[in-house]
Amino acid sequence: MTNPTENKIYLPSQEVIDQANIKEYEELYKFSIENREQFWANQADYLSWYKKWDKVLDDSNPPFYKWFPGAQTNIVHNAIDRHQHTEVRNKLALIWEGEPGDVRSFSYHALNREVCQFANILKSMGVKRADVVTIYMPQIPEQIFAMLACAKIGAIHSVVYGGFSHEALADRINDANSRVVITADGGYRRGKVVEMKSVVNKAMELSPTMEICITVKRTNVDVYMENGRDYWYHDLVALPIAASKCDTEVMEADDTLFLLYTSGSTGRPKAMIHTHAGYSVYTSTTHRMVFDIKPDDRYWCAADPGWITGHSYIVYGPLMNGATIIMYEGAPTYPYPDRWWKMVERYGINILYTSPTAIRGLMRFGDSWPNRNDLSSLRLLGSVGEPINPEAWRWYHEVIGNSKCPIMDTWWQTETGGFMITPLPVTPLKPGSGTKAFFGNEIAVVDDDGKEVGANEEGTLVIKSPWPGMTAGIFKDPERYLDIYWSKYKKQGWYLTGDSAKRDEDGYFWIIGRTDDVIKVSGYRLGSAEIESVMISHPAIAESAAVALPHPIKGNCIHIFAILRNGYEASLEMEHDLINHVVTHMGPIAKPEAITIVDQLPKTRSGKIMRRVLKARALGLPEGDLSTLEE
Ligand code: WT7
Repeated sequence: MTNPTENKIYLPSQEVIDQANIKEYEELYKFSIENREQFWANQADYLSWYKKWDKVLDDSNPPFYKWFPGAQTNIVHNAIDRHQHTEVRNKLALIWEGEPGDVRSFSYHALNREVCQFANILKSMGVKRADVVTIYMPQIPEQIFAMLACAKIGAIHSVVYGGFSHEALADRINDANSRVVITADGGYRRGKVVEMKSVVNKAMELSPTMEICITVKRTNVDVYMENGRDYWYHDLVALPIAASKCDTEVMEADDTLFLLYTSGSTGRPKAMIHTHAGYSVYTSTTHRMVFDIKPDDRYWCAADPGWITGHSYIVYGPLMNGATIIMYEGAPTYPYPDRWWKMVERYGINILYTSPTAIRGLMRFGDSWPNRNDLSSLRLLGSVGEPINPEAWRWYHEVIGNSKCPIMDTWWQTETGGFMITPLPVTPLKPGSGTKAFFGNEIAVVDDDGKEVGANEEGTLVIKSPWPGMTAGIFKDPERYLDIYWSKYKKQGWYLTGDSAKRDEDGYFWIIGRTDDVIKVSGYRLGSAEIESVMISHPAIAESAAVALPHPIKGNCIHIFAILRNGYEASLEMEHDLINHVVTHMGPIAKPEAITIVDQLPKTRSGKIMRRVLKARALGLPEGDLSTLEE
């Protein structure tokens, strides 16, 4: 990032400033730090509460902070119910486009009806408050209805991304003790049917707790349905039990809204907990301020609801703000590489939020695809998931945003619930930097002792103050939560992000990447340990190490170094077989780019694999400090 043209600062146009909801950052930031609780109370007042809080923040037992204790709410009360009594009722909540070209749209009134019906069905299946319901679906409207239906009746949803294998799904079902799973027969991707119910069937065989599966028909693909266990959604919704009115459960502030599994450094994926009150306030506020939401906006977050981005910024944040959301089922390049740009034109989309991987993937088809569509409705753009390289940033800005749309490069995590470092539309932008901390947050780049590093020096990114969107911890494992996030800077009481970063002379943050063994492939978060444990389950493998190598489109790709057991020999065929093994057992999103068979792996004297050395070797870079190496 030393190319001088990259130091160009992009100032907001007068038009952007004129219409911005928040015109000034520094002063409000200062206020939000000096009066954190007041700031958040002001934001909470944008929402409707069954009962207001006794206190904004209970910090008597850090890091288990409690936000808005004493309050009663339900995120659905704010995302759907309260809109039924205003002009938002007749506004479109969702415009959905299937990959084959079918379109469905729902007003807030219709959304309420769909969610009530789904909620009544779940109730009739015995789903109660605090039960965990697993959702494994393609990107169809029913995925959103299912999430909201769970929240409405006080159940906890656990959405598992559709790109995971049946084993990964079963692991998550079992860890959460989930009794009910909601799925679809399949979905469309690149003109083909991706089967889902058949994956769920295999997962159910591995899940002793699983009793009921509700399947939405999307593709007509043949599926096996078992009597007493499997129900078609369209059959259930035709029954009197699926009434179109359903009361929303009154939830306590810190009641769990959802679990979302995410990968860490070691061990199995962990279920991060998010709760009704704090998460509602944080996602609605960040969405309103950063995307500068206007009543007429059509807003498209082109992520999958299966990830935190989808939870916070497809579903909950936008619906609480009464926005019209766009959802698309399939591949961005189907049938042609201008599918997204056609959608922008067709629906008059004002705000587009996506990932650097998607931008790079579309950029490689050239400017003619976007240029043949009218993208002039776009006002704001967003990026998330990994650092965006300045080249992709400029293409996004110039070609997609016609050099007039500010890009909101939002840094955050599954654990943080919402944006932590992000520009506002009026923030002067530097391509590749998420700019500054969102209101209320004190964020720093520090060394191992917690001392702030100098300008442009690399260090560890930490969050020094609590925020309402923060996770309430890891499901069933508070110790692991303390250990992973709060032990390194225990004395200071800071949250460890797992990222390294720099801060420049203007105080802008530049995220470098993960410092742990988390691998970000196309913005998706995977753990080395998970991939390695799948490798080891192959009969030919004695030991392996998965590392992230740079990739021009995906940002990173997975490269595995493996040692074979005696009696097995390295061959191209063996490599393919191992790649398939990882895909079958973890899912297509974990497909390794390459597997290199080696005789030994570099380890420390205590036996820890030095993945950093493997990475350096693969890239032909200096191997760094090898004093602890014992090969
Ligand atoms: C990790 C969290 C937050 C939604 C999607 C990812 C990386 C995220 C950015 C960004 C640079 C980013 C970090 C972070 N990351 N956004 N704008 N610039 N890096 O959530 O799957 O929990 O992953 O994604 O490394 O720690 P996640």
